[in-house]
Amino acid sequence: MKFAPITDRLAGLGAAKWAVHAEGLRRAGLGEEIILLSIGEPDLPPPASVINKAASAMRQGRTRYAHGQGEPETLIAIAKHLTNRSGFLVTPEQVLYTAGTQNGLCTALLTLVQVGDEVLVPDPYYATYEGLVAASGATFVPVETLPEDNFHVTAQAIENAITSRTKVLLLNTPSNPTGAVLSMSEIDAIGEVCKRHDLWIICDEVYADMTYDAPFCSPFDRPHLRDRTLAVSSISKSHALPGFRAGWVACHQDVIPRLTLVAEAMLFGSQPFIEDALAVALNEKHPEVERLRLAFRERAETLIKSFAESKAISARMPEGGMFIMLDVRKTKLSGEEFAWQLLNQHNVSVMPGESFGNGGAGHIRIALTVESEILRDACARIRSLAEKLVASVI
Ligand SMILES: Cc1ncc(COP(=O)(O)O)c(C=O)c1O
Repeated sequence: MKFAPITDRLAGLGAAKWAVHAEGLRRAGLGEEIILLSIGEPDLPPPASVINKAASAMRQGRTRYAHGQGEPETLIAIAKHLTNRSGFLVTPEQVLYTAGTQNGLCTALLTLVQVGDEVLVPDPYYATYEGLVAASGATFVPVETLPEDNFHVTAQAIENAITSRTKVLLLNTPSNPTGAVLSMSEIDAIGEVCKRHDLWIICDEVYADMTYDAPFCSPFDRPHLRDRTLAVSSISKSHALPGFRAGWVACHQDVIPRLTLVAEAMLFGSQPFIEDALAVALNEKHPEVERLRLAFRERAETLIKSFAESKAISARMPEGGMFIMLDVRKTKLSGEEFAWQLLNQHNVSVMPGESFGNGGAGHIRIALTVESEILRDACARIRSLAEKLVASVI
C-alpha cells in the first residue's frame, strides 16, 4: 500500500504524549477511582440558551448546507464580538467560520505555509501544534521560554530563531499548558520583530475570555499588527461547548477568500444550527460563562494554597486559561516519570510537561476541570509523592 507523505509526517506525533492520560482513562473505565486531571474539557454546564437555540434551529430546518465562509448572521455576530473586544471595527468580510480552533489553525497553516517553510512556536506548546505544522509540511521550530520568566516568550528569543525560511509565528495566549498571558507591551515587541521579518502571526486565543488579573491582548487588536495576524478561537472553552466544534478565524479581508478555499476543500460549510447557536453565544450575556471563569480562578487559587508551604513542588498562579504547571524538578524525576508514579501509586492522572515540548521538562500539567474538593484531595496526593521523593534525594 502506498500513502501520501503527510501520514508519515503525522505518524508517532500523537499517542506517546497522551500515554498517561490514556492509561488513566483505561483504569477509570475498569472501575478504579482515578482523579483525571489530564484533559482540558470544561466540566460545568454550557449556557442553556445556546443549547436551546441549537435544538430549535434544527427543528426549524436549519439543517441544510451552510455558506462556505459561514452564515451571514453568524459572521456578523463574530465580527461584533471582536469589534467590542478590540475597540476597532471588524467587519464580517474579515471572518471565516470554522469547526473550532483546531480546524481554524489547520486552515490557517495550510493557507500560509508548505514544505520548506518554518513555523516558530513558543515552547511549551499545546500538544496538537506539532501535528498541525507537520500536516502543512512546514518545519516546526520551537522557541525557548523559561519557567523563571513564567514561560513568557521574548521578542529576542523569537528574533534569534528566525531564518530566511521563517514564515509564521504561532502564538497562544492565554497559553495551554503554561497559563501565560502576553501583555500589550510584549505583543508589541514581538509584533515589531514580525514586522521587521515580514512574518504572519497566527494567534490561538481559545482562552481569551479566561484571564484572571492580566488583561487579554491579541496582536489582532493592535492596529499596526492586525493585517499580519490571523486570530483563531472558538466557544469550546468559554462556553463549555467543545463538542459543538464552533469557532472562527479573523484576519485581513483579503486573506478570507484564500482561507475559504481551503476550508471548503475540507468541509464545504458547517452545520447551520450550530452556527445559529454560536451567534446566540456571542450576541447575549450568559451567567454560565462568568460562572465558568470564576470556578477556574477559584480552583487555581485552591491549588496554589495547597502547595504554598511545599518544599518539594513550586506552583505559580496562572494568568489565564484552565491549567497549572507544577514544577517537580526538586524530586529529580522528569515530568513524565513523576506522572507515571502519581498514577501508579496515587491514582491521579496528570499530563507530563514533556508532552508539551522540551520547555515543559520537569513539570506536570494539571487541568482545573474538577471541583475544588477533589482538587484538594489530588493536591494532597501530589504533595505526598513529591515530598517522599525529595526526602529520598536528600
Ligand atoms: C491552546 C488550545 N488550542 C486549541 C484547542 C482546541 O480548541 P477547539 O475545541 O476550539 O478546537 C485547545 C483545546 O484544548 C487548546 O488548549
